[in-house]
Parts: sequence; structure tokens; C-alpha cells
Amino acid sequence: MTTIPTARPLRRIVLGITGGIAAYKAAELTRLLVKEGIAVEVVMTPAATQFIAPMTLQALSGNPVLTDLWHSGAANAMGHIDLSRHADAIVVAPASADFIAKRAQGHADDLLSTLCLARNCPLLVAPTMNVQMWTNPATQRNVAQLKADGIEMLGPGSGGQACGEVGDGRMIEPEEILAGLIAWAQPKLLAGKRVLLTAGPTFEAIDPVRGVTNLSSGKMGFALAQACAEAGAAVTLVAGPTAQPTPAGVMRVDVRSAADMAEAVDSVVKACDIFIAVAAVADYTPADAQAKKLKKSAQPLTLALKPTVDILAAVAARPKAPYCVGFAAETNDVNENAEAKRRRKKLPLLVANRAQDTLGQDENEVTLLDDAGAHPLPRMDKLALARRLVAEIAQRLPRT
Ligand code: CTP
Repeated sequence: MTTIPTARPLRRIVLGITGGIAAYKAAELTRLLVKEGIAVEVVMTPAATQFIAPMTLQALSGNPVLTDLWHSGAANAMGHIDLSRHADAIVVAPASADFIAKRAQGHADDLLSTLCLARNCPLLVAPTMNVQMWTNPATQRNVAQLKADGIEMLGPGSGGQACGEVGDGRMIEPEEILAGLIAWAQPKLLAGKRVLLTAGPTFEAIDPVRGVTNLSSGKMGFALAQACAEAGAAVTLVAGPTAQPTPAGVMRVDVRSAADMAEAVDSVVKACDIFIAVAAVADYTPADAQAKKLKKSAQPLTLALKPTVDILAAVAARPKAPYCVGFAAETNDVNENAEAKRRRKKLPLLVANRAQDTLGQDENEVTLLDDAGAHPLPRMDKLALARRLVAEIAQRLPRT
């Protein structure tokens, strides 16, 4: 087996701050980056210092804040070059319309713009501006130029703005910038692939107000959808009832019952390269769901159940089946039960775990089962595990 590719390193970044009201959020972003173990060197434009004091960023980053091209403190007066040589990336947040225009033109008239022009590391920008400034054709032209130059855009978001107007152009939140940065750093192992996932529980109606469901939180399936999107795949996530937020860039289809889930999967599976069944699909559904609410009586009530469709087995049995990955949550004899399931459903890969280890938990410990045998993985949080599973799936995909 080949080694698992790792993400781009994120040990040290230069955080550029330009003049915009969202500059105050750069303080929180600095705190989050430092908490993540990333060394941060802050460079501010003169305009940015009108919105937030350099001392705030200095205290949070633990490093001197640089604001001036002419007093950058570098012994050889090459601070604008030296800074990016030690950085894994430059992140500019907030990035004003003016900064973006300067980048499109390649201007270098202050420390931050000179540093960006002289950089030999990637540049990511989180735009911030009024909706009219953002939608202005000049800005859109500039943004298109930045993208063409390989500069990564983090946002902007949409919503109420400091000026009172509503629309696109607000800087995304510091947590989203950090998540975007980490996502960007992931290896693009599934670029060009279309991935379909199921996640969460299903809910099988007994009557209009009652039903049969299970304890699945959807965390593992949503983490995998996020990891697949980070790895460059086009992702469709068919989700049972769950409160999980939709990961960035993932197309989500909400369903309720096993039958709804089977139908949703059926309508998109043909166009997919990979199918990952993480959902805890009900194996049985009430044989005769009542249209009206059941009334209580003194008599015992027997609920007749009928089997549901096995969505994963049906997909794996298709003539041109995508690469199918199953999950098995077992309470006992985990590997034996799971391997039997893998063979029964004819799956190239199955992720086995103990039901009590995964249901509702933030971490999980799994064993991968494939034709070569059992491969245990260490215990880790579900997002780290999801990224590892993406790497495991990517290296098992049939070469096309
Ligand atoms: N699965 C599915 N459709 C179903 C039942 C299960 O797609 N109706 C998928 C799950 O998403 C999971 C795998 O099949 O990837 C294993 O599910 P599980 O319920 O553990 O397996 P079953 O075949 O139902 O076996 P059992 O309940 O007897 O353990």
C-alpha cells in the first residue's frame, strides 16, 4: 500500500489586513490561527491601522506587526521578500476592493502589496466590501483576474452589511476563513470525481406524529462529505433527518424515510464515480403507516414491519456500479460480522466500527475491510478520520 498523501503544510502564515470595517475580525482570525498551532506574522496596510490597532494583533500573534515598507526591520532592507520566504501562505483578510484591484494590476506601493508581488508562496484572499462595490464590473473583472492568476478566494459571504445594505460582499466569518484555509490545504485526491453519499438516520412514519428512527447523528457522513469536497470532488449528500450543517460546496438533498433515500440515490447514482453509504438506514418500516393519528386503547398494540430496500446492495449490484463503500456498526464480533456484510453486498471496501464507539460520538475507531484483509486505523476525530478515508478510497479507485 502506498503512503497516505498529507495536506500542504500550514505551519506559518503571513496575515495581511487591509482597510475595511471587517478588519476588527482579523483579531479573532489571528487568535484562531494561533490556537490551531499556526505561527502568524501580521502585515497591515496604513488604512487597516485606522480600523484596528496593530498592538491588538501583536498581542494575539506574539509577533511584531509590520505596517511600513520603509521600516520593516529587515537588516538587508528586503523585508518584503524575506517575509514570504518563510511563509506557507499569505492570507489577506479582509481584502478590500482596492487591494484586489492592485493585485489584478500587480501594483507594489506599500508593504503588503509589495510582499504579495514578491511572494513565492500561495495567496488566499477574503474579500470585504459593499454589495455595489462587489458587483461592480470592475471588481468582478479583477476577481476573475486573481482567480486566473491562481489566487484562492475565501468568500465573500452574503447578508447584512456594516453600511446597512444587504447582499454579497461581506467578509466570511473568521471560523469560515480558517476552515477554508484548512480545506484548501488538503490534497486534491478526488479532483474530477463525482461522489454520492448517504448520511444520518431515517425516520419511518407510524402515523403523522410518530415514527421509528435510530441514534445516528450524521456526523461521520457529513464529515466525509466535507472531506470529499475538500479533496476536489463534486459531492451530493443525501441526508436523513439531522441537525448537521451542510459542508461548504456540498449539494445536499434532505430526505426522511428509507424509501425517500432510495429514490433520491437512484435519481443521481448513474452519474457518480463513488458511492459512500454512511446512513443508518432503517431495515424495516411500518407495513401500514396510518394517515390519521393512532388513538390510545387498553389493548396491546402490535406494529407490523416490512423490510426496506437495501440501498447500498442495490447500487453495488448495478451493471455499471460506482466504487461502493459501506459502513457497518456492529455491537459484537465486529470484523466477522462486517466482513460477512461486505461479501453479501459485494463491496470493494467496508468501514467497520463498534456501534457504541460511533453513535453520536465526535471520535471513532474503525477497521477497513477489503479483499486484502483487515486494516485497523487509530482512534481519531471524525473529520480527521474522514480525510484519512478519502485518501484510502482514492488509492483504491480503479485506474481509468
Ligand atoms: N444500508 C443501506 N440500505 C439499507 C440498509 C443498510 O444502504 N436499507 C447500508 C448502510 O448505509 C451501511 C451498510 O449498508 O453502509 C450496512 O448497514 P447495516 O444496517 O449495518 O447492514 P445490514 O445489511 O442492514 O445488516 P444488519 O442490520 O443485519 O447488521
